[in-house]
Amino acid sequence: MRIALLVTHLRPEEKLLIAAFEARGITPDVILDRDLNFDINAGAEQTTPIGTRWSDYAVVLERCVSTSRGMYAQAILNAWGIPTINRYATAALCADKLMTTLTLAQHGIPQPQTRLAFTPDSAMQAIETLGYPAVLKPVTGSWGRLLARVTDRYSAEAIIEHRETLGDYQQHIYYVQEYVNKPGRDIRAFVVGSRTICAIYRTSPHWITNTARGGQATNCPVTPELDDLCVRAANAVGGGVLALDLFETPEGGLLVNEINHTMEFRNSSAPTGVDIAAAVVGYALEQAESAAVNA
Ligand SMILES: Nc1ncnc2c1ncn2[C@@H]1O[C@H](COP(=O)(O)OP(=O)(O)O)[C@@H](O)[C@H]1O
Ligand SMILES: [Mg+2]
Repeated sequence: MRIALLVTHLRPEEKLLIAAFEARGITPDVILDRDLNFDINAGAEQTTPIGTRWSDYAVVLERCVSTSRGMYAQAILNAWGIPTINRYATAALCADKLMTTLTLAQHGIPQPQTRLAFTPDSAMQAIETLGYPAVLKPVTGSWGRLLARVTDRYSAEAIIEHRETLGDYQQHIYYVQEYVNKPGRDIRAFVVGSRTICAIYRTSPHWITNTARGGQATNCPVTPELDDLCVRAANAVGGGVLALDLFETPEGGLLVNEINHTMEFRNSSAPTGVDIAAAVVGYALEQAESAAVNA
């Protein structure tokens, strides 16, 4: 059984995944996204940049740093019948915060109040309807970049004017959320297949708690309530290998903030004691075997 790892470069996560595959007796082929040069009219029999054929692979594990490279590669491979983790349809929902929010709303998953507007005036109305503080986010992005927590009309107007004047068209799409008064931390939960395998709290004095921004990771117990919500939310976007951000509300509830489809996890195995790479590899092998059976 051959498996490909599609990467931008080998981050700690990809090195852990390769080691986990090797522990299962498989050496995955590493394909660099910078070398991709797909013939769109040809199919899965064309050669890959490393001289194999795409049809040789039981599954391709997508691990690109660039969301758009990963997504287009998944779209092409899925169209050719090559299973990918995650599927293109799932990646497309998760890559766009509005599409995630819309999907979660359709499935009745609790999430922060969110509004979408397209002009400075309607964006101001969206913010004032939600009340201050409110959070403005680009619909695509990660690592907490370009998030704004606006606390009054003047800061809201300034952010909007900057986005109108300096931003590209994506910055003219105003995704506005209520600010959730979370307890100095949020929850990052890892769903692999049908199970929440582990979760961390990300604690920070800053309201943006991403570990890429200095949030500290500690173990978060996976309660039945957390597991149930995470698995329902993951299934809503099509399931696979996913990392969910959740907020604890002052009332003791949980809200799903976003779902990431090509997660980083280097900081999460030590505090949780869960070998995340081994779990992802186990799932990839299961998917590869069931694809082989169905072929
Ligand atoms: N509505 C909100 N209320 C409170 N904190 C928020 C809110 N939205 C985002 N955050 C904080 O900012 C972090 C990054 O936001 P997120 O939506 O996950 O964007 P990114 O894709 O950049 O990770 C979250 O993990 C959380 O700590
Ligand atoms: Mg996030």
